[in-house]
Amino acid sequence: MPTSLYAPLEPTMAHAPTEIAPDTFLIHQIQPACGQPLFVYINSLVIRGAEPVIVDTGTPANRRQWMEDVFALVEPEDVRWIYLSHDDVDHSGNLEQVLDACPNATLICSWPIVERHTNCLNFPLERCRWVNEGESFDVGDRVLTALQPPVFDSPTTRGLWDPSTGVYWAVDTFATPLMDAPTNDLDGIDAEFWQFGLTLFAFGGVSPWLSYVDDAKFNAHVDRVQSLPITMVAGCHTPPLVGQRIDDAFGIVRGFPTTEAPPLPDQAALEEILAATAVAPA
Ligand SMILES: [Fe+2]
Ligand SMILES: [Fe+2]
Repeated sequence: MPTSLYAPLEPTMAHAPTEIAPDTFLIHQIQPACGQPLFVYINSLVIRGAEPVIVDTGTPANRRQWMEDVFALVEPEDVRWIYLSHDDVDHSGNLEQVLDACPNATLICSWPIVERHTNCLNFPLERCRWVNEGESFDVGDRVLTALQPPVFDSPTTRGLWDPSTGVYWAVDTFATPLMDAPTNDLDGIDAEFWQFGLTLFAFGGVSPWLSYVDDAKFNAHVDRVQSLPITMVAGCHTPPLVGQRIDDAFGIVRGFPTTEAPPLPDQAALEEILAATAVAPA
């Protein structure tokens, strides 16, 4: 019986959820990088407030662990909101399962998310609320605002600002590979490696258009986010950022319009990967 390439896989490395602010938890998945001894985080967020919010829904590959992690923090029936930042599979991978498990949840999405993602999900429109860039919604004990992050890989992307904790969900911005895992901080990271990783992932994995943008306009866009009183940046593909690390990360991102895009691994790299992972015939 052939094995489906798309069958759910177990995570190779577990990392229990982390409380990054009061009642605010990162849900982790760790994915080994392709061809390098590096690791990439795939995070989601749970805000366990008066009306609990799930922010992004993990990946199919980590479905079982993701559901266990999330529903150990909040009962499915208590979840009132599912916030979908955009329709990429690492953010929407368990959306159908979460909608099924959480019958009292409203899905915060948007017209473009529904338009783009209807090819693989029959959206229950009566359970949806469309929230566009800059719009807010009340979740009982706080008001959350959708705010586009500096670097993004989908026209539908909206980050999420929680002024009650100072946590900003930056979605794919600040994505970076890590040399060690599991690790939940950047304390020991080499500054040069971090800058290279942020740049490689921004241009190669998220936003190749950065080379074409107007420097002043882009930095004005970054100002909108960085001017918030952020105390913690959480993202899908980075350990949380605090203190000086936040300013440093924004500083690196601000330089992207005048940064040369790094070269990407090519066919020769793929052949090296294949040679290194070749399984000897029986
Ligand atoms: Fe994305
Ligand atoms: Fe992502």
